[in-house]
Formats: sequence, C-alpha cells, structure tokens
Amino acid sequence: MKLACLAALAAIVSVDASVKIPMKKKPITLAGVQNGALQSRGLLGKLRAEETLGNGAIVISQMEDAQYYGPISVGTPAQTFNVIYDTGSSNLWVPSAKCTNCGLHKKYDSSQSSTYQANGQNFTILYGSGPVTGFLSEDSVGIGGMTVTDFTFAEVTDASGLGLAYSIGAFDGICGMAFQTISVDGLPPVFAALVQQNLVTEPVFGVYLESTGEAGELNLGAADTNHYTGNINYVPLISETYWAVALGGLKVGGKPSTTSVKAIFDTGTSLLAGPTADVQAIAAAVGATPSWLNPNEYTVDCTKISTMPNITFTFNSIDYNLTPLDYVINVQNEMCLFAMTSLSQIDFWIAGDIFLRKYYSVFDFGNKQVGLALAYPAEPSA
Ligand SMILES: *[C@@H]1O[C@H](CO)[C@@H](O)[C@H](O)[C@H]1NC(C)=O
Ligand SMILES: *[C@@H]1O[C@H](CO)[C@@H](O)[C@H](O)[C@H]1NC(C)=O
Repeated sequence: MKLACLAALAAIVSVDASVKIPMKKKPITLAGVQNGALQSRGLLGKLRAEETLGNGAIVISQMEDAQYYGPISVGTPAQTFNVIYDTGSSNLWVPSAKCTNCGLHKKYDSSQSSTYQANGQNFTILYGSGPVTGFLSEDSVGIGGMTVTDFTFAEVTDASGLGLAYSIGAFDGICGMAFQTISVDGLPPVFAALVQQNLVTEPVFGVYLESTGEAGELNLGAADTNHYTGNINYVPLISETYWAVALGGLKVGGKPSTTSVKAIFDTGTSLLAGPTADVQAIAAAVGATPSWLNPNEYTVDCTKISTMPNITFTFNSIDYNLTPLDYVINVQNEMCLFAMTSLSQIDFWIAGDIFLRKYYSVFDFGNKQVGLALAYPAEPSA
C-alpha cells in the first residue's frame, strides 16, 4: 500500500495526445510473485512463500504485498531489475549497490554505467508498512524495448520498511504508473517520460494480469485486443493523482452496499479494499468471518462458495460483476479467504488485482480515463 505516499506539489506533466509515432505495441510480460503450482496467482504464491518460511500461520495482511512484476533496466550497459508496475504510486526505485539490507535482490551499481549522472538528493517514500529510503540518481531507463534518457529515479539504500514482503519477494523495485502529482519530490513518472520523449504511439497503457496458463502483460502505447473480449468501456477520471474514478455503486447480491462515491484502480494492491464499516457489512452478507490474526481480513467456508452472492461495481452506469469464484481465494482444501479487506483511513474503494484480473484495464493519460473490458482469456470458472 502506498496510500501514505508523500504527496509532492508538482505540475501535472504535459501530455501531448496529438503526438502519434507509428510504433508497435510494447508488451512487457508480467509474472506472479511466486513459482510452482500456484504461479498463476500472485496472492496464492505469496501465501505459499510464507508457509515455506515455516511461520505456520497464514498472515493474511501480507497478501496485500503479493504482486505482479516485470523487467525494467537502468544504466548503460543495461542492469536489469524486476519491478512491480504499480498504478497506485508514481516513483521508480531500485535497490542501490550501497544498500546493506536489500538481501539477495539485484542492485544498481552506478559506477558500472556510462550514462549515470549523480544527483544525491535524499529520497523517502512511505508505504503502509513503513518507509523506504535512499537517494536520487539519473540514468537511462529501458522499458519494453524503449529507452528513456536522463531519467531521475531513486537508488534505495534501506528497504526494511517493506518488511518480509520485500525480503522474500521476487520484485527488486517498484515502477510507479500513477500521476506526477503524487510523485515524491515531484519527479516525472517513467510513463510520463516515455510520452515526453515521444516513445509511445499513444499516452496509454493496458494491463492484463495473468490467468492460468497465460502470462500477464503490460501493453505500452495501446491496448492489446488479444487480451479482452467485447468493448472497452471508459470511465472518466475524477482526479489525476491515483487513477481515481466515480464509483456509481457497489452491490452485493443486488443490495447497495456502500456510500462511498470514489474508487481507484491499483495494480499494486492485491485484494479489493474499502472503508471499514462497508467491508464489515459486506463480509457478513457473504458469510465471511474475521480472521483471528487480523479482524480486517476474512475467511469463508469453502463449501459455501456456490451459494455466495455476486459483488458488482458500477462505473459510468456499467456493471462489473465479480462472482464468488472471482473474489474467494482457495488457499488450501479447507481454507478459503475473502479477497476483500478494510483500510480504516480510506473513504474510497480500491479495485486491486482481484478486480483487474477479471477486467483488462486501459490507463489513458491522454483522455483522462480508465477503460475496462472483460479480460481474455478469462480465469477458468468451475
Ligand atoms: C540524507 O540522508 C543521510 C543518510 O540517511 C542523512 O545522514 C542526512 O542527514 C540526510 N540529509 C538530509 C538533508 O536530510
Ligand atoms: C452471478 O453472476 C453470474 C454471471 O456473472 C450469473 O451467471 C449468476 O447467475 C449470478 N449469480 C446470482 C446469484 O445472481
């Protein structure tokens, strides 16, 4: 979670939607955090990783850190890192060679890059779990076969604020894909630099999160028609900070279940998340019970899945349905989790990976909107 992200005052990057350089779509393959039989779902992979650490209990809160990641390179010659492409934050950071607690993660060594330029300004980004600190540097950044030059990013020297999620995670760093308005130090995000340096066809990227047997993909410059079925329906942004839109409604079994009027689309959050009172009532309505480890998180009886109601988000008058097969995570044979959590400090909803796996999403800087379409191939349903 990066809701606690320090908001910096900054001008919105000028996005020139009229620049059209013919260029092929740039897919970046996204992978779930873990490997093995559960690799198709980052969440499950994360749980398995904790189990193998031998801590016994399943710490559900850690699931919020389960992520999809893909490659990015920094420097000349390229030093490659796995980063979470996070639509809920706006900075790029990678571990620094000067990091002493970055574990086995790949580390950026500026002395090995001919395009490095020193900056040195201190950098701190606050995540829900704690701060990540380091300093700023400038270098070339490679993404999807394109290269952004003279890009200012953070070299992280202390990632301990991310806790276990980072120590055991497959991701080395985070590439923020939200707006410059919430970028720490007001730095332009990578995608804004791609647009400014005329490297993408359109100021748009599409997100397809893997389903069984198919890799996920980040499509830079255009939506990829191979990854959805039917029309893309667009929802206008209500602010250019996170990817925030008006929430027309949230129904559980047809019953209106929130008074909140705002939602954000966040690839960096695994579950659905919402205001505490709403989530408590919804959990009760679907028959989920609070976890003894964390009362903001819920388990469900696996045998009841077929009788649970649908959960429906409404955006721009169109209903986006989630069935129990979409919102229940079958962890083990007798253990099922309700993929919704509450965050006390928020009065809006977060449509995280649970939602974005079902709906291919198009993040459109040029037209200030998010497009949604049924992802294809879809997750298999029983
Ligand atoms: C920058 O960070 C270093 C190391 O954490 C610290 O010693 C120094 O005081 C910081 N400088 C500023 C200006 O905050
Ligand atoms: C839930 O939605 C699915 C389609 O997405 C539909 O087939 C099913 O009938 C709905 N279930 C209920 C209880 O309305």
